[in-house]
Amino acid sequence: MIISSSTDYREAARRRLPPFLFHYIDGGAYAEHTLKRNVEDLAWLALRQRVLKGVGDVDLSTTIFDEKLSMPVALAPVGLTGMYARRGEVQAARAAEAKGIPFTLSTVSVCPIDEVQSQSRRPIWFQLYVLKDRGFMKDALERAWAAGIRTLVFTVDMPVPGARYRDAHSGMSGPNAPLRRVLQAFTHPAWAVDVGLLGRPHDLGNISAYRRQKTKLADYIGWLGANFDPSIGWSDLQWIRDFWKGPMVIKGILDPEDARDAVRFGADGIVVSNHGGRQLDGVLSSARALPAIADVVKGDLTILADSGIRSGLDVVRMLAQGADGVLLGRAFVYALATAGQKGVENLLDIVAKEMRVAMTLTGARSISDISRDSLVRQLEKPA
Ligand code: FNR
Ligand code: LAC
Repeated sequence: MIISSSTDYREAARRRLPPFLFHYIDGGAYAEHTLKRNVEDLAWLALRQRVLKGVGDVDLSTTIFDEKLSMPVALAPVGLTGMYARRGEVQAARAAEAKGIPFTLSTVSVCPIDEVQSQSRRPIWFQLYVLKDRGFMKDALERAWAAGIRTLVFTVDMPVPGARYRDAHSGMSGPNAPLRRVLQAFTHPAWAVDVGLLGRPHDLGNISAYRRQKTKLADYIGWLGANFDPSIGWSDLQWIRDFWKGPMVIKGILDPEDARDAVRFGADGIVVSNHGGRQLDGVLSSARALPAIADVVKGDLTILADSGIRSGLDVVRMLAQGADGVLLGRAFVYALATAGQKGVENLLDIVAKEMRVAMTLTGARSISDISRDSLVRQLEKPA
């Protein structure tokens, strides 16, 4: 299969993965309106073509949290990444290192912190959820710090999991799910051997390390629902802010008031995100939410954004809307599922190339040249 974009990787991943995994990645919450809006609203942002600006070589590099990045992109935290490719978190972290950008390890990864960090020379970022078991949270923070991790991404938009209809239909959850997953593995032998057999152990590595026993994946969705804590507010997080001496990023901000609260809290950054349309369906796309947030907090903290980014053109659009950098979610996961570390490296090359074209043709020589003037404002999709 010819691969020239993240769309091609999506199709390749669809063929390779058992359906329960493909749909878990690809799907969103409820009727998936926000999932679609994330992509469509970005596409609607018209880039403003400028010519003969003597741009020459464009420089994609930037600095985020005092870290030099080859481009303003990091890999987003994605649960169960080790189920999409053999020891998938390690492969993705190595690809990110090779391309000079950060990888973020999810709380609910297959590979635990130490396994991933010990195989990457670049410090990874660690994502933590608000879980009922504060002992686990403290343990995870200590392990992360001891491993040399300094950037903490604290995800706050999952106090309860949004219902994903596809999961119930695909065998991720729902009736006879374990049996259906085994049958799907038989019809996807390349995945079954490479990941199903040779990619073991399959469990939630960080949780198992804390509980000192294997945390099975069989009831992953149920585990999420039972362990997340919807009761907490900003003041309950103060101990984490006090404990964590490195940059702390609040992920899942979609409203300017919450962005202001994040500044008051003492966050170093936010991720403007609706979790890739996987939580509350019907909320604004990140691309649309971003300008109002940038208006109130730009300069007070680092603004990252994700949800719907599928190309380097989309990266430039998010930067033009006010982001300092972006996270790639599904885009890198499709590449990882298709071709492991090499796939992610290739995808990152594609994104960089697309960014170069977009910057050259909008007259931007460096990342700081990208602004709202890089877009044609009046051609935005009507609200
Ligand atoms: C996620 N996301 C996520 N976020 C997080 O903070 N912790 C997590 O464990 C996960 N898990 C997860 C699994 C899968 C399969 C997906 C697709 C996403 C959300 C992720 O970090 C990011 O916000 C979205 O993926 C961004 O949207 P796009 O770019 O995928 O559309
Ligand atoms: C998800 C969780 C794990 O989106 O963040 O599935």
